[in-house]
Amino acid sequence: MYDAAGMCDNCRPMKPRVLVTKRIYPEAIDYLKEHVELDYAESDDGLSAEELLARVRGKQGLISQLTDKFTAAVIDQLGGVRVIANVAVGFDNIDVPAATRRRILVTNTPDVLTDTTADFAFALLIAAARRVVEGHQFVHSGKWTKWRIDLLVGQDVHHRTLGIFGMGRIGQALARRIPEALERELGAEFVTAERLLYESDFVSLHVPLLPHTRHMMGAEQFRMMKPTAILVNTSRGPVVDEAALADALEQHVIAGAGIDVFENEPRVHPKLLTLENAVLAPHIASASVDTRKKMSMMAAENVVAALEGRRPANLLNPEA
Ligand code: DGY
Repeated sequence: MYDAAGMCDNCRPMKPRVLVTKRIYPEAIDYLKEHVELDYAESDDGLSAEELLARVRGKQGLISQLTDKFTAAVIDQLGGVRVIANVAVGFDNIDVPAATRRRILVTNTPDVLTDTTADFAFALLIAAARRVVEGHQFVHSGKWTKWRIDLLVGQDVHHRTLGIFGMGRIGQALARRIPEALERELGAEFVTAERLLYESDFVSLHVPLLPHTRHMMGAEQFRMMKPTAILVNTSRGPVVDEAALADALEQHVIAGAGIDVFENEPRVHPKLLTLENAVLAPHIASASVDTRKKMSMMAAENVVAALEGRRPANLLNPEA
């Protein structure tokens, strides 16, 4: 059989094959279909390691999400895979050195989610400081019978000190939400972790999960914070010792917390669920429609670029 261009079926160069491990935005799927042979696991459940390894046979590319765990053992069994494109800026779910050893390219989705995540960190900060969720629940419960001088009083956000752990892309974008800081063109000061904890009214975490950032915030750090201070975490759950945080909030060692990421997602420490001074969200800091579409598209473009022999825009391990 010959196609319209006179190319016989068997002579046509084969498209590379790509496995998408979990549902992503349809725009990205349409783009992938134009460029590659697609195997789409169109579900939100994700694949177990066994399912992934069975389905990855014969594939050259993978589009993964932060719930897919690429340990060294899994990576060693990826056969002919040449690229893993993660739909996230974080890539602690992938053992990148192990991928590099096997000459597998790894990409992520930076920049497109920076402002969206910073918006959400600020939303959590204000929600925890001004007790927005408690107010909502109070109105819903029908307990609101009269105006009271100290009804649900919280902490002021304006003219306060914001401590940002990790002055990378998202940390800087959060700083820009503070008009004063903007006026002085981010005349922020780099301080030691101890000073940041002692002096800040709000502490927002923007560090990647690495061996030295795991449980970076624990009982000792909470004791260093002001009793009126609020912790915000939109980075990675294990950066905070969740049990120690629950204790600190229960005993009012700190005033409150706005938390989007947890140590064992989707499980949350049971004590946190009982505390009114904890504002909790299900890992949605980057979840705006536009941003999640852009992240899906970016991962698709990264995988196609790699498989067409071009350098992907967001390559994490060029040495591979
Ligand atoms: C990321 O990109 O790392 C977020 O945690 C999910 O968007």
